[in-house]
Amino acid sequence: MKRRAFIAGAAAACSVPLATSAVPYIPPQPDTGGPGLDARARRSGRRFGCAIKSGQLAKDPAFTAAVLREAGTIVQEYELKRHVTQPRPGRYDFSGNDKLVDFAQKHGLAARGHTLVWYSNNPPWLAAALPGARGRARDTLLTGYIETAMRRYAGRIGEWDVVNEPVEPNQGRADGMRAQNIWGQAFGENYIDLAFHSARAADPRARLFLTDFGLEHASRRCEARRTAILKLLERALSRRVPIDALGIQGHLKPFREPFDERTFARFLDEVRGMGLGIAITEMDIADRGGPQALEPRDAQVAAVGKAFLDVALANPATSSVLTWGLSDRYSWLSTYPEYRWPDGKPSRGLPLDSDLRRKRLWASMAAAFDAAPPARKGAR
Ligand code: XIL
Repeated sequence: MKRRAFIAGAAAACSVPLATSAVPYIPPQPDTGGPGLDARARRSGRRFGCAIKSGQLAKDPAFTAAVLREAGTIVQEYELKRHVTQPRPGRYDFSGNDKLVDFAQKHGLAARGHTLVWYSNNPPWLAAALPGARGRARDTLLTGYIETAMRRYAGRIGEWDVVNEPVEPNQGRADGMRAQNIWGQAFGENYIDLAFHSARAADPRARLFLTDFGLEHASRRCEARRTAILKLLERALSRRVPIDALGIQGHLKPFREPFDERTFARFLDEVRGMGLGIAITEMDIADRGGPQALEPRDAQVAAVGKAFLDVALANPATSSVLTWGLSDRYSWLSTYPEYRWPDGKPSRGLPLDSDLRRKRLWASMAAAFDAAPPARKGAR
């Protein structure tokens, strides 16, 4: 047996990496065999999926195989953001998302649409045109795009993040709405009504989500965000805005803010009590600030992932869980300033490691799906 193969084999067998730095860290492999995460999610009537980029599918067949093994639904990490799809007025480029939706259809996967109306990632021409627009011309800047995108994918994208990240209490508004938002500045809160009514008319079969982040932890920051989003939902539903479900992004930060099961469960119960569905739409676990050593870090990441999913899946209104990426090989956590490690090492906040091996987090997610009680049937 060649030396390198012997070392690799030995390292895989031992629970502590060999002294030599030449041997890559191979964490103890929990039982990570068996069906993929979506197959396990389906047992309780749910779906599992992940955010991907068409370029990953084009250049990385091993990653593509991992997506097909684990996921039953996909979402666009960036290729359905408006600065990509409408770079100039009246000029659309859906080519990236066409590849993703074609991939999903070819392999029998579902597809989400992320996102139609967001304060961020808008093309410069739109941010420049909106403030001066009035009446129908102004409305069409919002509804025209929704109609164009949703009609293009009607019957192929089953659920849409219609409005993304509408609240931001730290921007000073008493209602906790996001003040620095071109849509709120142009329309007031009514942009949400207009967006959802336009979406419902564009594709009556699609499930319509309002999504946001910072709803998960037991912290002042998240409590303020939960309060703002619940009040927004109450106001919008009282105006009969056709919102079907709340998307909780699930970007967890366990080494910065505590996670408390009861706090999160109470919030999910309030959302379900409004008659809304729930999805975890962008789950990942920022591990910066955790142990430098991989084994304890992986273990702590897996523990909070399990606790979070156990609560989410205990609620019958939760219909799906998507992670924001599938493998540490492609994770925005490793590039986004707030989350990336100063030494440039990859974050380990997704179910598969950079070599596409199932990590402890994968095993804890699999266990959560395996233990999940049934989801509510027929959720719109
Ligand atoms: C991010 C993507 O990961 C990046 O690739 C892109 O450049 C910018 O958007 N919340 C969201 C997502 O709703 O759309 C963001 O995705 C991450 C935060």
